[in-house]
Amino acid sequence: MDRTDSNPHLFLSIFFFVIVTSITVEYILFHYIAITMKKYLILTLLIFSSCGHTGKEGKIPPSLNGIAWPGDYTKWKLVSVSHRLDHHSLRAIYGNAIAQKAIKEGKTNPWPDGTILGKIVWWESFAPDWNAAVVPENVVHVEFMEKDAEKYAKTGGWGYSRWVGNDLTPYGKDANFEQECFACHTPVASKDYVFTAPPTFPGTDK
Ligand code: HEC
Repeated sequence: MDRTDSNPHLFLSIFFFVIVTSITVEYILFHYIAITMKKYLILTLLIFSSCGHTGKEGKIPPSLNGIAWPGDYTKWKLVSVSHRLDHHSLRAIYGNAIAQKAIKEGKTNPWPDGTILGKIVWWESFAPDWNAAVVPENVVHVEFMEKDAEKYAKTGGWGYSRWVGNDLTPYGKDANFEQECFACHTPVASKDYVFTAPPTFPGTDK
């Protein structure tokens, strides 16, 4: 066979080899890039969603006496509920881990430093399907008392904070709003300024 005859075959084989190889390499590369991009996309989404979460709490301004929003109080435990007939509102009272421990050990007079009691207040409404059932409606406010005997000595050892409505606007005109809280809690000074007496929760470790 003449060498010049075999050249076109060789050329064609090389040509196809190059084409097939480059398509394969390209495919693998794109596949790899796509997987990598997907990874980064998921990571970015995760970062953004966690930012959104902390961002929401971060956006709540401190109360006017400088006390910071204490976080998701619904993750604490329910201490009690109340219904104020003179204010037409329902209340759920929560306690942080230190409050829960104090309740369990019966050491609530005085409450230990670090205790936070939180209260959410809703206007009362009447259940559409059972008119005599009083149920929560719109939020009035969310408020807290945090115990630090030394830091808050001027207000009986408790730091008071309150945010109004669903958008959690800090309550009051200035830092002096806390005097209003302190004054109304003074009748129970002998119970460390706390009205709530936790009821029993049978079948639980509370
Ligand atoms: C008009 C009186 C009055 C004023 C003013 C008042 N409180 Fe109270 N507070 C009460 C009463 C009564 C209770 C118990 C009944 C209930 O659950 O609402 C209570 C309960 C609480 C509780 C649950 C712990 C407890 O003592 O039982 C918190 C927290 C609280 N108040 C925070 C505040 C804050 C913060 C302010 C000020 C921004 C404030 N309070 C102002 C009367 C008042």
